[in-house]
Amino acid sequence: MNTVYLNGDFLLANQAKISPLDRGFLFADGIYEVIPAVGGILFGLDEHLKRLERSLAALSIENPMSKEAWVSLCHDMVARNGEGDLSIYIQVTRGAPYKRDHKFPAPADEVKPTVFLTASSLERSSIYNIDATKGASAIVRDDIRWSRCDIKSVSLLPNVMIKQEANESGAMEAILKRDGFITEGTSSNVFIVKNGIVVTPPLSNRILPGVTRIFVLKMCEELGYKLEERDFTEDELRAADELWISSSTKDVLPIVSLEEDAIGDGKPGPMWKDLAERLMAFKHPD
Ligand code: PDD
Repeated sequence: MNTVYLNGDFLLANQAKISPLDRGFLFADGIYEVIPAVGGILFGLDEHLKRLERSLAALSIENPMSKEAWVSLCHDMVARNGEGDLSIYIQVTRGAPYKRDHKFPAPADEVKPTVFLTASSLERSSIYNIDATKGASAIVRDDIRWSRCDIKSVSLLPNVMIKQEANESGAMEAILKRDGFITEGTSSNVFIVKNGIVVTPPLSNRILPGVTRIFVLKMCEELGYKLEERDFTEDELRAADELWISSSTKDVLPIVSLEEDAIGDGKPGPMWKDLAERLMAFKHPD
């Protein structure tokens, strides 16, 4: 069984106990991060910790640890869980006051944030096996989430419900649309390629500022791809030459069909292949 971390202790998962009054449990009043490690090496740690800080600040939860302490804790979790291919999950909630109350606990109550980390095994993404990658399928659904999707909140019910719909229709992901424009996937950012131009929705309160998105944009720039950060429609999505999703656990993955329709020729495209190679070299420079 994996070793988890809870409020200062390293424990087996079934030994970790959290109060039912924890505001994460009662109100989804908390935030999270998912950080990948391949061969025991954490990737994008700095960017993930920056976003963690930003999400905490957005909810006025005091960051319970210094940057150095977070870095050391994440490395410790990797070491204690076998140094392999792992996804490190961090959750911080507003903590467990003595009674349920919508408003934040008063400073005098001295409620401390709950800090919980797990490590689970991580499957190598498509960029580790570019030639064998066939791509994945997705569906398109209305984005029924709240209007602060830029906060990595643990309040994920719409994402969970829509991902389940994708799963039940045999698709890997659901791509979301709001007010006529594509936003992101239920757990990924979205990119299309049309006539050699890479297009992705701009950062706003409608999407999560993905860490992998940062690296994908950087790699696209290095490859000399033309880039546009702008909104695009479902029609543009369906007419794309290539469609990619990005996340910390999937890196950058080609989507080759939307419901019954093929994207491009229904195979991972040439721009994805070059990008995947570049990202691979960036992640593993040796
Ligand atoms: N999800 N958009 C949403 C809604 C997400 O949940 C995620 C990641 C992303 C991509 O962000 P990043 O590149 O930083 O992983 C975009 C994680 C992996 C999850 O919920 O498990």
